[in-house]
Amino acid sequence: MKKTITVFGATGTAGSACVDELLLQGVFQPRVLVRKSGQEEKTSGLAQKAADEKQRLYDRWTRRGVEIREVNATEQTDLIPALKGTDYLVSCVPYSATESQYPLIWAAKEAGVERFVPSEFGFIYEWEQFWPTDTSHRQMARQKAFIRRVIELAGLDWTIIPAGLWPEYYMLEPVCVHGDGKQKVSWSTGKDVGRIIPHVLAHPASRNAICPVAATAYLSWDEMLAARERFLGRRVDRLYMDSTTFRAAYAQNSSPLTEVLMGIGVAATECPEGMPLWANWNAMHLPDFRGMELDVLFRDVVEPFVAATMAGVAAVVGS
Ligand SMILES: NC(=O)c1ccc[n+]([C@@H]2O[C@H](COP(=O)([O-])OP(=O)(O)OC[C@H]3O[C@@H](n4cnc5c(N)ncnc54)[C@H](OP(=O)(O)O)[C@@H]3O)[C@@H](O)[C@H]2O)c1
Repeated sequence: MKKTITVFGATGTAGSACVDELLLQGVFQPRVLVRKSGQEEKTSGLAQKAADEKQRLYDRWTRRGVEIREVNATEQTDLIPALKGTDYLVSCVPYSATESQYPLIWAAKEAGVERFVPSEFGFIYEWEQFWPTDTSHRQMARQKAFIRRVIELAGLDWTIIPAGLWPEYYMLEPVCVHGDGKQKVSWSTGKDVGRIIPHVLAHPASRNAICPVAATAYLSWDEMLAARERFLGRRVDRLYMDSTTFRAAYAQNSSPLTEVLMGIGVAATECPEGMPLWANWNAMHLPDFRGMELDVLFRDVVEPFVAATMAGVAAVVGS
């Protein structure tokens, strides 16, 4: 019998791609936990998903045999029965809703869930939590690392999937390059993050393991920007920033988005020499997994995301 994977935060960027890939892969039986309407709505991205957009996803998934269970995500009396029969629980909640996973962990334990996959999908937070400079990003890293401890305390198995940088977030010009741009890092666009999750979980080496993937590409910043320049047919404006420069930019704290991005820059450039932040677990364990082609990535994801960010900045400046 197939194991059942329940996805929480299923209509988000990573979550929806995860459900779609579960259907394509066919190894697991997918299920979706839906938060009852009226619960606080957050996002890691630029815009929240509208209710009708979510409904279209539910309809599409239901037609393909996905069971949708609606819950009050803060109520144990709702969550525990809704999680019964789940083998693996995958959480794809946004950056700013990390704390929403606490009731889920308790309910998962009570419901007999075997494995909990918390919403990570960035740096290796086990390390970042100990980096020297306190930023709002390190705070989030500390919470994500703590959540892993709570999962262990509950006696659940776990899988941690760091995914490196989502390229769409880092391409606004001038691009703020982490360091000298020469070291290879992991790049995973949001859709590939969601897509790779079922493949990681199908691999036996993922049980109680940190599996840092490069779902889209394993390239240095210079290599990634060279690919973008080939796509655009022009030079991409950039600044090479070290940890001092990132700390100064973080201290200026000009907007919530730059605060997060500069905090990430601080963490990336404070990384001790010889301790790479990310890795390419999929190259070794999932050699057949293919991320998005770079030209498609720039055309369909990066450039529209950059344009939407600029429009958002222009709207704020103009208001
Ligand atoms: N490394 C990077 O560069 C990077 C970039 C972006 C994100 N990330 C990480 O990736 C993870 C997923 O991010 P994402 O961008 O895919 O998320 P997202 O698209 O922002 O997720 C939005 C979805 O989360 C659910 N949600 C909304 N408010 C919620 C709340 N208060 N509590 C629980 N769930 C709520 C909703 O789905 P339902 O209504 O279906 O529940 C919503 O559609 C996060 O951990 C984030 O930190 C990393």
